[in-house]
Amino acid sequence: MRYTISSSALSESAADAVVEGLFQEDKPRIGEGYLSPELGKAILAELKRRDFDAKEGDVCVLPLLGQGSFRHLIVVGVGKKRNYEQDQLRSLGAKVIKAANSVHAKSIIFHPELLRRAKDLTEGAQALVEGVELGGYHFATYHKRTAQEHAKRHKSEEIILSVTDRPSKIKVEKGIALGKLFAEATILARDMVNTPSMDMHPEEMVRIARSLTGRGTGITCKVLGRAEMEKLGMKASLAVGQGSVHEPKFVHLVYRPGRPKHPKRIALIGKALTFDSGGLSLKPADHMSDMKIDMAGGAAVLGVFKALPHLKLPVEIHGVFIAVENMPSGSAYRPGDVVTAMDGTTIEVDNTDAEGRVTLADALSYVVQKIKPDAMVDLATLTGAVITALGSDVTGLFGTDKELKTALAKASEKAGEPVWELPLYPPYRELIKSKIADVKNVGGRAAGVITAALFLEKFTHDIPWVHLDIAGPAYAEKETRPEWVAGGTGWGVRLILNYLRGVK
Ligand code: BES
Ligand code: MN
Ligand code: ZN
Repeated sequence: MRYTISSSALSESAADAVVEGLFQEDKPRIGEGYLSPELGKAILAELKRRDFDAKEGDVCVLPLLGQGSFRHLIVVGVGKKRNYEQDQLRSLGAKVIKAANSVHAKSIIFHPELLRRAKDLTEGAQALVEGVELGGYHFATYHKRTAQEHAKRHKSEEIILSVTDRPSKIKVEKGIALGKLFAEATILARDMVNTPSMDMHPEEMVRIARSLTGRGTGITCKVLGRAEMEKLGMKASLAVGQGSVHEPKFVHLVYRPGRPKHPKRIALIGKALTFDSGGLSLKPADHMSDMKIDMAGGAAVLGVFKALPHLKLPVEIHGVFIAVENMPSGSAYRPGDVVTAMDGTTIEVDNTDAEGRVTLADALSYVVQKIKPDAMVDLATLTGAVITALGSDVTGLFGTDKELKTALAKASEKAGEPVWELPLYPPYRELIKSKIADVKNVGGRAAGVITAALFLEKFTHDIPWVHLDIAGPAYAEKETRPEWVAGGTGWGVRLILNYLRGVK
C-alpha cells in the first residue's frame, strides 16, 4: 500500500473512495464541501432507513454514481467517544480496507476529521495503517497464478490521509512509518504460520533467520545442527525430533545496538515445532492439519527481528528457537523414555504430544547459561488447555517478575493483542513429579495450562521470565477481529516490539 499525506480540501481531491466517520453524539453530516447539500441530506436519509446509527464498527458503502469526484462513499460509525484509541483506529482501518476492496477502489481518501479525533496523532496513524495492512492481508502463495493476478488487480493501492497543518503532518508521517514496519513484521510471521509444514521445515526457518542478518542490520545469527546440539547437551530437543527426516536446528539471533556500551539484554524464545503430529502419542485426524501452526512462537521471534534494524533500539536483543518436527516413526521417541535437557534435568516423557515444553527446556537452559539476560520472554503454542481456559483470542500470561509482567501487559494493550495472567500455583508442582526422573512432561487433565508453565519454570533459574501461551490467538479459525484475517495472526510481534521500545 502506498500512503500519501494531503493538505488539499476534499473538494479539490479525487479518489475512488472517500471515507467519512459518523459520530453518535454529533449532528450527522455527510459530503460537506464535496457533494451538494441535497445529496448529503439524501444520503443521511438513506443511512437512517438502513438503521445505520453510527455505532462503533458499523460500516456502510454507497456508490456516488458520478456525483462529485469520488466513486464510492464509505461511512464508518465511530460511536460516542470524543477521542479514540489505537484499538478503534486499527479496526476502523481494517474494516475500511475490506469495504474498499469489495468495490474495487484503488485509491481511498480519509476525511481529515477521522485522524484529528485520535488521542495521539502518531499512535493513531500507526494503528490505522496496521489495520489497513493487517485487515487487507491475504495469503495467496498456494493459489494458481491467474487467481493471484485477478485478486491483485482489484486491490486498493493508495491511501490518502488528509492533514491540515505542518506539525500534524510530521506526526502522521511518523505513525505511517511505524504502522508499516509493525505490519510488515507481523506479516512475515503470518506467512510463515500459513505455509504448510512440507515447505516450512527447520531448514526453511533457518533460511529466513539468516535472511534477516547482514551489513547494517545489527543482527547476527548462529545456527547449530544435530551434532553441535548434542555436544551442548540439547538431548531433549533432539529426542523430540528423532522421528523426523528433518534435522533439528537451533537458531540464535542477536541484535546489538551501536550504543550504549552496556545495554540491557533481553532474550526472546519461541516454540518452533514445524509440525506437531503428536508423535507416537498421535493426535486424532480432526484438526491435525492445524498443527502446521506450531512454530508460531518462533515465527513471532523472526517477525520481531525483521523490524529491529529500523527501530534502532538501545537494547541488546537475543532471539532463540529450536526448530524441530514431531513425527511418529520407527526412530521416534517413545512414551516412557527419559531424556536429559541441557541443564542436566531429566524429563520423563509420559506423552510425546507434550513436546513443546521438552524443546523449550533446552532453549531456556541455553538462554540462562549462555546469554544470562536481564529478562526473558517465551512465546509458545503450548497447550490446548489455554484455549479451554481463555478461548480463541486471549493469550495466557505467566511470569516470575512483577515489573516484566506489568511491562508486557501494557505493551499488550497498545498492540491490541490481549493477555490474561494465570498463576504459577506452587502446589501444582506435585502434578508433574515423576517417579523415575526429575520431572514429568504432563500433569494430567486438570489445569493443563498451569502445569505446562510450571514445567517451563523449572528451567528459568531465577532469571526474570514471562511465558506467553499463544495457542489460542496464534491462529484464527475465523475472523474474530477485523485485523485478524482467518489463518495465522502473527500474534505477539507487535506486543513484543512495543515492549522492547519501552525497555530503558
Ligand atoms: N501444539 C500443541 C498445543 C496446541 C493445541 C496448539 C491446539 C494449538 C492448538 C501441544 O504440543 C500439545 O499437543 N499439547 C497437548 C498437551 C497434552 C498432551 C498434555 C494438549 O494440549 O493436548
Ligand atoms: Mn503436541
Ligand atoms: Zn505442539
